Amino acid sequence: MRKATITGLGKYLPEKVMTNKDLEKIVDTDDGWIKARTGIEERRIAADDETASDLGVKAAEEALKKAGIKAEELDLIIVATITPDMPFPATACLIQDRIGASNAGAFDLEAACSGFVYGISVASSFIESGMYDNIMVIGTEVLSKIINWEDRGTCILFGDGAGAAVLQPTDKGGILASDLGSDGSGGDTLYMPGGGSLKPATHETVDNKEHYLYMEGNQVFKFAVKIMSKASLKVLKKAGLSTDDVDLLIPHQANTRIIASSTKRLKLKPEQVFVNLDKYGNTSAASVPIALAEAEEQGLIKNGDTIVLVAFGGGLTWASTVLEWNDLK
Ligand SMILES: CC(C)(COP(=O)(O)OP(=O)(O)OC[C@H]1O[C@@H](n2cnc3c(N)ncnc32)[C@H](O)[C@@H]1OP(=O)(O)O)[C@@H](O)C(=O)NCCC(=O)NCCS
Repeated sequence: MRKATITGLGKYLPEKVMTNKDLEKIVDTDDGWIKARTGIEERRIAADDETASDLGVKAAEEALKKAGIKAEELDLIIVATITPDMPFPATACLIQDRIGASNAGAFDLEAACSGFVYGISVASSFIESGMYDNIMVIGTEVLSKIINWEDRGTCILFGDGAGAAVLQPTDKGGILASDLGSDGSGGDTLYMPGGGSLKPATHETVDNKEHYLYMEGNQVFKFAVKIMSKASLKVLKKAGLSTDDVDLLIPHQANTRIIASSTKRLKLKPEQVFVNLDKYGNTSAASVPIALAEAEEQGLIKNGDTIVLVAFGGGLTWASTVLEWNDLK
């Protein structure tokens, strides 16, 4: 059976850097606390007029260039985001138009921070089935626009950015297995109450700050440390592999303590696990593709390597993918 493989990666981070020291001026927090409890040193913040589609277009264009294909050759664009430009049309359609992907279908996929890995699973299934050949998966987020900048429990954690991957068919290596999970009973530990059909925007919802992200940090933390290792082991088993086969783990970049605990549970060495959240914080659906793109840029990935992508997020959701790197070059 033919498989899908990643043939091009791109990323885009807004120019504006917000350090922990900058945050000290906004909320009652300090650089030392943020570094010790999260590992984050700084994050990028989009300009006032910059949107999820703006960031996504830049990441997508870079991924197309690296894959060596034209936008018109794309069959499908999947955009993972919880901060779309607007409820509809889909941000995927906005990006489709702007990059000139005139032959592509386009839709948004919402699985919060797990969204990109969900998207990889969907895209690889389309390719394996023979339905499509060239698919773009983008994770793009402008979380700064849904953050309550008065809530020190959340505003220190998140950042803006976008990452993109082009997937194409291969008969060697590529995406070996994926696994998706959810537990809707935990939905109220990480959510945005207002703006949907439950609570359409009113003056009251705005006054009550219901258009911001809410999180029970401790509960999400406990869920995350369990699920990251569980999801990684499950997908490796599906592919007939074990942690001994892993060259590099690309985890969702939420908190270094969550990543360290998963590294330990999986009995991996720290150098087998890619971390860049010190620079960007948690960029939700963009975190895994940005990390993957940087790992490749840094020469940490070569053809034949076994790589695990694993993410968790609101929903609650989780997703994992194991792939044998083969960029067809
Ligand atoms: C949010 C998070 C960093 C909080 O860290 P923690 O070690 O659990 O901290 P706690 O919430 O127990 O708070 C400990 C103390 O620090 C304080 N505190 C919380 N945020 C603070 C901040 N930004 N600066 C300084 N102090 C802070 C708390 O008020 C509390 O003080 P108290 O003991 O006097 O009540 C952590 O729970 C976390 O990372 N959770 C997962 C979040 C996540 O990954 N979300 C995204 C999912 S995709």
